[in-house]
Amino acid sequence: MKTLPVDIDRDRLPQHVAFIMDGNGRWAKQRGLPRIAGHRQGARILKDLVRCCKDWGIPTLTVYAFSTENWQRPLKEVEFLMRLFERLLRKELTEMHQAGVRLQFLGDLSELPASLQTEMTQACEITAQNQGVTFNVAVNYGSRLEITRAFQALAQQVKQGVLNPEDIDETTISQQLYTPDGPDPDLLIRTSGEQRLSNYLLWQLAYTELYFTEHFWPDFDRSAFHVALLAYQQRDRRFGKVATALSA
Ligand code: IPE
Ligand code: IPE
Ligand code: MG
Repeated sequence: MKTLPVDIDRDRLPQHVAFIMDGNGRWAKQRGLPRIAGHRQGARILKDLVRCCKDWGIPTLTVYAFSTENWQRPLKEVEFLMRLFERLLRKELTEMHQAGVRLQFLGDLSELPASLQTEMTQACEITAQNQGVTFNVAVNYGSRLEITRAFQALAQQVKQGVLNPEDIDETTISQQLYTPDGPDPDLLIRTSGEQRLSNYLLWQLAYTELYFTEHFWPDFDRSAFHVALLAYQQRDRRFGKVATALSA
């Protein structure tokens, strides 16, 4: 499936898809493998997904790679994940850059290992002008932390006298989040059968279509993505209005 499947309407593709990549551990357990084997296979799947978004014409994807809650996992697993992120960045950056991928990271990066922070900063700088696909990776990301920080920043501006409280609107708030530009996600996909948001993009997902699949993340290949897009295109996005022709 190198090109967009023929049963998908190109004109109604989601412009931004967010993913909660869940089920790596269970995928591995099912095979009698250590959890880290699931993370490794999950990374391979992610690599192809970025390419797929480019091939199919989906301009932005945002993936949840590590939450502010994930620090509570066993230290060995956390360390493995941090090393995996760093290794992937080193190994895949050139290819992603050539493919026109613009990389951005969302989250409190200051708590990550220093060497990983360096790789992230470089990757963002190198790919900043690329226009193929915007690939956002949420690392040490928590939506409530993101919103709390936005409140703090706005309160500071009020305190300094540069912002009137009555001028705070949805745009001013959005601008203080880790996702200041670009459209909100049209579609959120969570794998592994769990049906919750786990502190992910709570503000940005206000009107997003939610799609949950039983596939574990390491099994989420192009054909699973195809099925999710078909389901998305069946939805009638009313945004509070009455039904459109699609569902009438
Ligand atoms: C998602 O898979 C990857 C991360 C959260 C980093 P999990 O590791 O949560 O896999 P399960 O949910 O335990 O199967
Ligand atoms: C959410 O998955 C975080 C990421 C995918 C990075 P979790 O597996 O950590 O979520 P919970 O704990 O099941 O809600
Ligand atoms: Mg999980």
